[in-house]
Amino acid sequence: MTNQTPFRTTRLEEACGPGTNPTANRTMGEIIAARFSRRGFLKGSMATAAIAATVSPLAMMAASEAKAQGASAFSFPEVEAGVDADHHVAEGYDADVLLRWGDRLFPDAPDFDPKAQTAEAQRRQFGYNNDFVGFVPLEGSADRGLLCVNHEYTNEHLMFPGIVTVKDGEITVSEADRTRVDIEMAAHGGTVVEIRRNTGGKWAVVLDGALNRRITADTPMEIRGPAAGHARMQTPDDPTGTKVLGTINNCAGGITPWGTYIMAEENIHGYFMGELPEGHPEAANYERLGIPESTYAWGRFHDRFDVSKQPNEPNRFGWIVEVDVMDPNSVPKKRTALGRFKHEGAESVVAKDGRVVFYLGDDERFDYVYKFVTAGRYNPEDRAANMDLLDEGTLYVARFHEDGSLEWLPLVQGRGPLTAANGFQSQADVLIETRRAADLLEATPMDRPEDIQPNPANGRAYVMLTNNTKREEADAANPRAKNAFGHIIEIIEEGEDFTATTGRWEVLLQCGDPSIAEVGATFSTETTANGWFGMPDNAAVDADGRLWVSTDGNSSSDTGRTDGLWAVDTEGEARGTSRLFYRVPVGGELCGPCPTEDMTTFFVAVQHPGDGGEDWEGHGRPSYYEDLSTRWPDFDDAMPVRPAVVAITRQGGGRIGSA
Ligand code: FEO
Ligand code: CA
Ligand code: CA
Ligand code: CA
Repeated sequence: MTNQTPFRTTRLEEACGPGTNPTANRTMGEIIAARFSRRGFLKGSMATAAIAATVSPLAMMAASEAKAQGASAFSFPEVEAGVDADHHVAEGYDADVLLRWGDRLFPDAPDFDPKAQTAEAQRRQFGYNNDFVGFVPLEGSADRGLLCVNHEYTNEHLMFPGIVTVKDGEITVSEADRTRVDIEMAAHGGTVVEIRRNTGGKWAVVLDGALNRRITADTPMEIRGPAAGHARMQTPDDPTGTKVLGTINNCAGGITPWGTYIMAEENIHGYFMGELPEGHPEAANYERLGIPESTYAWGRFHDRFDVSKQPNEPNRFGWIVEVDVMDPNSVPKKRTALGRFKHEGAESVVAKDGRVVFYLGDDERFDYVYKFVTAGRYNPEDRAANMDLLDEGTLYVARFHEDGSLEWLPLVQGRGPLTAANGFQSQADVLIETRRAADLLEATPMDRPEDIQPNPANGRAYVMLTNNTKREEADAANPRAKNAFGHIIEIIEEGEDFTATTGRWEVLLQCGDPSIAEVGATFSTETTANGWFGMPDNAAVDADGRLWVSTDGNSSSDTGRTDGLWAVDTEGEARGTSRLFYRVPVGGELCGPCPTEDMTTFFVAVQHPGDGGEDWEGHGRPSYYEDLSTRWPDFDDAMPVRPAVVAITRQGGGRIGSA
């Protein structure tokens, strides 16, 4: 094997470095964290390695923290936390694999053959690393609908045979050739596929579904909204600045009230390589996003991913993409009005006055929480009338004050510092450089904002802040320095109005092991040794208004457990109680928790299973195609580990998590 490159971190989000926010307002360091102190939370946390040294039992927690028993909104037998090669769901439930990487999506699609992969085959098969999962019912049926699934990124060492060498316990991946690059590009993007529930209550893929489609890094898309056509969006391939090929690193997303599928473009920096021409005007813009990072080799074969050849191309990524799933030939639209940054997701809610509000996290250390409020109102009677609602509206960024109040600051050209003098000639400039605009507005730098889930029942929204071990100083909204396990903030919009520009906020949970005092976790005392978690990432609010949280980053060495899906009480005396419902195989992350409206099915996405295993005693060495820590879900020696979407149902039917 020639042309070898050092093995790289394959999880882009873990490779995001110390953050690229250069502003002085990065930690609100001068603010005394008054609320934080009042509540007696322990200041600071420790590196995970140091934590094990000091243990105080749950019983040591203050008596005032004790919660009444039996007040939980959830009822199911808790799963035992741990690490092994399989997935596990609560007793009395089935977790059935519905779609695996490589599964056929069309009648003419070839069977998956991991040893003879081609881009052509991959374009007709389920892609890699399923993240967001959405469900759009068809013809009002609870038993038939479209599953919409993002394919965030590719793990070459798990996907391709014969590309890894091992020396002294370190693995090296050979440099990609054109064939491999094109398979990777075809394994990105998204899947829309019809599924049906059979009489036994189990879900199955409808191969000849008329609306089935694959979206990839090559799918033609339109650029819409205020940045469309701007000179900074124009390239040699597209002098109009309105057409672009593909979408990449689609992490979480959303389903709009009008039934379109939102794909959020997150860690776009790793797909670009090369050097900008000397003195290029986009240099500072790209530096703020860490572009180029050269994680992937795509730019060696496709000029648009080489910034020395097509320097404006990165401005055409980092957006929210909207797909009309009811037309398999529809052209997906990049909606520039919602800003350009490392978009985790875009969950939405119809406000009291009919405008629609999208909550947006920018997942990087010290970056921001945003929301977008449409100018127009949602029309539930006329789907077509809603189709361009995302082209006009106001993007806001959050400032969290230490007194528990919250301001939403509008990112509007000409207002405050967002002027021509500061390089913002138009709203297009504000949107292309959303982060810099938010820096100037002195938004609050957060501990990696991931999914933000509104709860239509109570005017609140839950912000997953996954972790930030680079934070030196705590502040009110990020109350732990060296935040290894993350936290969840509850936003309470003024008057329970999601369009409000002011509100309040609370820390719902500081995550981590509550039996270790120095961690400073704040789960209720009703939370068992299985029930706590670290690194919240995605969330769902079910039809009963209950919060479910899925995680990214729990492992043998961090928390002694894999990632999974936890049921988290937010109301009454049980507030802050968490219970484990489902957990993934070793090395995996749990994404896309998607409960159906009738709560009889919970779709979840098991992402990058088998990516790791060094710290698990069942493997104890690097995991790669020829020596995997798990071969979930097939457990067939001829098959590699495969990311997959799982449908969880209750044995004998019934609502999930209820008595
Ligand atoms: Fe792709 Fe922020 O997780
Ligand atoms: Ca995520
Ligand atoms: Ca969500
Ligand atoms: Ca994550």
